[in-house]
Amino acid sequence: MSASSAEAPSFPVRRTCPYQPPDVYREISDRGPISQVTLWNDRRVWLITGYEEARRLLADERLSSDRSYDAYPTMAPHLGAPAARKLVLVGEDPPIHHHHRRLLNPEFSLKHARALRPDIERIVNGLIDRIEEIGAPADLVEHFAAPIPSLVMSALLGIPYEDHAFFQSATAGVMQGRDPAHTEASAAELVRYLDRLVTAQERKPDENLVGRLVAHVESGELSHDEVVQLAMVLLIAGLETTSSMIPISVLALLEHPEQLAALRDGEVPAAVAIEELLRITAVTDFAGVRWITDDIEIDGRVLKAGDGLVVSSTMANRDERVHAEPYEVDLARASRQHLTFGYGIHQCLGQNLARLQLEIAFGTLVRRLPGLRLAVPAEELVMRRTGTMQSVERLPVAW
Ligand code: HEM
Repeated sequence: MSASSAEAPSFPVRRTCPYQPPDVYREISDRGPISQVTLWNDRRVWLITGYEEARRLLADERLSSDRSYDAYPTMAPHLGAPAARKLVLVGEDPPIHHHHRRLLNPEFSLKHARALRPDIERIVNGLIDRIEEIGAPADLVEHFAAPIPSLVMSALLGIPYEDHAFFQSATAGVMQGRDPAHTEASAAELVRYLDRLVTAQERKPDENLVGRLVAHVESGELSHDEVVQLAMVLLIAGLETTSSMIPISVLALLEHPEQLAALRDGEVPAAVAIEELLRITAVTDFAGVRWITDDIEIDGRVLKAGDGLVVSSTMANRDERVHAEPYEVDLARASRQHLTFGYGIHQCLGQNLARLQLEIAFGTLVRRLPGLRLAVPAEELVMRRTGTMQSVERLPVAW
């Protein structure tokens, strides 16, 4: 596809409301479930905003996630860094993707996630104790949203939590790099750090995920470098997503007090409420970015081999054919029909763990701090400026 025009608006566009799409997304969706947009580098790609169309396409084997090809659309300048173009798992196609996923799936089963419930409850309660000690106003990003996945992922992977300042800033550097050099340097630091950790596990494996992956090196199913790369992708995917979603969901609740009350009073259980928060916030903004390996006919159009394709979870989650009043926040909707965790073979590996963290985080927060409120006017909240993940820099609250 060729250069930009008025028929292919610029994409992505930064949100102004942290949990609702910018107006132009609605205009794009109104054109139909499949349209064209123009990326920052003038590349024109297909944008999928229809829920069913998105699912059909994300399940299609003629779509590739392999970022090493020029045909793969780069969604922001920093993602052009070589390290961001060779991510294992999320950037792989079958059969290698299947091989890696088969080794990891058991680690992220519902049973495994549920076994972590007591630990996550302890973590979340400990953080709220600390917030109470600090006193209002407290920043929920620094003291709640960032440490929850950080503590959980460090326990799961066997990464020392005392290194959290380093691994939080390095993973943020990869995902939200200021430019390709920042992303590349952050990824290189993470690789060096994780390489040391994996080597130590090879000498004396512990009872954690990296320790178990190392056992696959002995059996010849994985190489040392693959374990390092897998640990890096898990860390990146597990931290930034969850920590970004918590503050903007809290904001959505604070701006919908009747919904907050329904959660606090137990009218809607936290396990149900999080599905609507996932649907509304869609923090990654995209459910998938792909390139097309073979022509695909869909809805009377031909998506050509070599074309790029982006699925907007933000908009597919608001498809009126699936949800009535899709822009309304309604925790009782009790629908898992959203693409916030993607769809098809790359559907989020960590979704059971993410759901559990979110359920415990929101359930505990509203129960323990029933008077929760913003400590600054909402207009003063600053959306994160780099990267494509949607979040706010800080969320000062009182209670
Ligand atoms: C609110 C939290 C989360 C959101 C919104 C989210 C979203 C997503 C999305 C949209 C994808 C699909 C990407 C694609 O198809 O190209 C994905 C994949 C993935 N997610 Fe998550 N995620 C979350 C939490 C987690 C957690 C806690 C982990 C834990 C380690 C995790 C690990 C992964 C991995 C490894 C993949 C790649 C899977 C594959 O390619 O087979 N995610 N996630």
